[in-house]
Amino acid sequence: MISTYASDSANAAASAQRMANRKIAKQGRTIRVKIKRCDGPGKASRWETFNVSVSERGMNIISVLQQIAANPTTVEGKPTTPVVWDSGCLEEVCGSCTMVINGKVRQSCSCLVDDYAPAEGDEMSLEPMSKFPIVRDLWVDRERLFHNLKRVKAWVPIDGTYSLGAGPRETSAKQETRYDLSQCMSCGCCLEACPQFNIEPDKSQWDTSFIGAHAISQARLFNEHETGKQLKAERLEVLMGPGGVNDCGNAQNCVKVCPKHIPLTESIAAVGRAVTIQSVVNFFRG
Ligand code: SF4
Ligand code: SF4
Ligand code: FES
Repeated sequence: MISTYASDSANAAASAQRMANRKIAKQGRTIRVKIKRCDGPGKASRWETFNVSVSERGMNIISVLQQIAANPTTVEGKPTTPVVWDSGCLEEVCGSCTMVINGKVRQSCSCLVDDYAPAEGDEMSLEPMSKFPIVRDLWVDRERLFHNLKRVKAWVPIDGTYSLGAGPRETSAKQETRYDLSQCMSCGCCLEACPQFNIEPDKSQWDTSFIGAHAISQARLFNEHETGKQLKAERLEVLMGPGGVNDCGNAQNCVKVCPKHIPLTESIAAVGRAVTIQSVVNFFRG
């Protein structure tokens, strides 16, 4: 369970340490990988540790899991089942391989063993995200993350496959702002780190529970799109209701863990202002 997140200076120090580790990492070493396992929804979790041989540079966590899958035997010599995980793109674009590595949520495909376990016998830990239901082992069900994007209608409302001609003109400054926001890959890191976002097994509560930084930022992305803003008022109505932007406690953990460096706190502030304006408009409309 993650409760605190490092400051910018601590993050910079950790990054420098990873670079230093990468330079000194010896190939041909054996490391230990401790994995939090669970056989399925509602089952108890347990830890298992595996020896992994690091024979080449650039080995990532997915390669580690593949090696374990080829010979699923614990350090005690006990045969076990292959570890289950989710992945897709293998280039930090789809977000599906997200897990908690050495206590920090991130993508396993872009996590290099040399950065974290450079010496013989070094240990790494892998856990599933805690804010989503476990499917099995390191694989979690991110359905609620996508449900929350639907709550704010995170799309441009264009129907049909025929050409509609050129869209409305947009300034390059606006395009640049939206480009940063558009890089969200729905990975769930911001939700895992958020103290206001908690696992909610009861789906009937999803529409009133905190929506999360990713959905707030995507609402801003589409509200600032010249065609997408047709749904701006509907998005803001959701975001001013229960579980909306006012439930954000401003802990700023989200922005510290976003792998795409999306300015989430800026989005939260911008949507907060828009919600206030929308409330005033609603008041005068009666
Ligand atoms: S700033 Fe808001 S959304 Fe981000 S981690 Fe804090 S409470 Fe969660
Ligand atoms: S905002 Fe960042 S951390 Fe959150 S889902 Fe998108 S890419 Fe992941
Ligand atoms: S597999 Fe797609 S982000 Fe890692």
